[in-house]
Formats: sequence, structure tokens, C-alpha cells
Amino acid sequence: MRKTIIAGNWKMYKTIVEAIELANGLKREFFKLDFAAVDVVLCPAFTALSEVAEVLTETGIGLGGQDVYWQDEGAFTGEVSPVMLKDAGAQFVIIGHSERRQFFSESNETVNNKIKAALKAGLTPIVCVGENLQEREAGKTFKVIEDHINNGLVGISGSDMLNLVVAYEPVWAIGTGKTATPEQAQEVHKFIRDLLKKNYGSEVADSVRIQYGGSVKPENITELMSKPDVDGALVGGASLKVDSFSTIVAKASEVVK
Ligand code: PGA
Repeated sequence: MRKTIIAGNWKMYKTIVEAIELANGLKREFFKLDFAAVDVVLCPAFTALSEVAEVLTETGIGLGGQDVYWQDEGAFTGEVSPVMLKDAGAQFVIIGHSERRQFFSESNETVNNKIKAALKAGLTPIVCVGENLQEREAGKTFKVIEDHINNGLVGISGSDMLNLVVAYEPVWAIGTGKTATPEQAQEVHKFIRDLLKKNYGSEVADSVRIQYGGSVKPENITELMSKPDVDGALVGGASLKVDSFSTIVAKASEVVK
């Protein structure tokens, strides 16, 4: 059984005070909810990590960074290491988000280095893959996914795969209000699981959680979650408000129960 995982990617939003307020608001809502069936993870900006970690102490809510560098320390101005993320209280880290691939020259090779370093430090990587609109329209979706999975995960062992989450995020659906239909999501999630099966065998492939991301909101979470290979969501915009994110978690829990 794969446990549903809902993560909020706060991107470059929220000052420290705002982040604490949002985390506290979510904590209050989650107290009222029975969310034990779902793993919930919040991914604030680096600057707010340790303060949000403090708010989340003993709540069962996870914490993640939005990126990481692959060295433990050194002269790498501007970067944050896996050790530092752990030190700030994170258990998870988003790696290879399409915004990083698009705006910050992230490649499969850097993604691969980051995954290995995160795993070595005991962090759970949330590895993002997904095609852009041009690629989808050219019929290259599966080719792009295959490239991201096969090259991004080079050298990652089957046992490490059990500590890793994949997030399928079609770039054309991120922040656009345009969600993939549950059928489109399921088709790609199934493709990813089949690829993992080929690379690691059924036991591993059946255990890896695959989240969907791209304009997930309270209105579409139930339908998305009802697909067999959709094991959760990576939520951007709708994770920035207590109401919408707690409703998404509540609805996802309903599907699982
Ligand atoms: P969105 O972002 O929910 O705002 O589309 C998702 C993401 O980028 O992870």
C-alpha cells in the first residue's frame, strides 16, 4: 500500500512571519482533521525553514526544502547543502522542479547529483519530471518523461528508490489554472510506474509514490486522487492559503479512507 503524500511548494513566497502564520493556521486545521492516512509536507523558502520546523514540532507534518546542492560544505556561494537542510529540520527536498530546469539551468545530471546527495544525508527527494506544452503538442511527452526518469535516476539503487517520491508535473499545467485531466495524469503516472518496473522490478515500482502537480486545487483533488497510480499531489498556488491547502488534504484523506 502506498501512503498518499500531499506536499505544499511555497516557492518564493512568504516572509518568515507570514510562513509561521501559515504553518500555524495549517496546524490548527490539521488538529481538527484525521489526516493520519496522508503524509503532509510543507516546503517553505530556505529562510523560513527553521522557524516553520519549530511550529511543526510533534505535529507529524513533514518539512522540505525546495532545492539543494550536492556538496556537504565548501566555497559554493548561495547554495544550501543537504546537511544544512537537515540541520534546519527538513526531512524532504524538492529536486528538479521545472522552474529550476527552466530558469536555473537544472539538468538531469545536476538533478542526479542532488538526488544522490539528498539520499546520502537521509533526506527524501521529491523528484519532479514533466513535459512542456511544446513537447506535449509534438507528441514527445513519454520521451521527455523517459529522459527525466532514466537519466535523472542513473545509479540510484532499488532500495534508495523506496526513499524517493516522484512528482509528475506537466509544465503547461503549473500555475496556469490548466490541470491535466485525471485521465491524462493517470496515463503518464502509469507510464512512469512501468518504466520503474523495467528498471527496478515490480516490488520497487509498486512502492514508489508518484505525486501529480500542476494547478491542483480543492475542486480537482478528489478526481485526481481517485486514479490508481496517483499517490498524492505537489501543490503550488493552492498551498499558500490555509483554507485551500487544508481542504485539499481533507479531500485526499477522504479518498484514501
Ligand atoms: P501550481 O504549482 O499548483 O501553482 O500549479 C505546482 C508546482 O509548481 O509544484
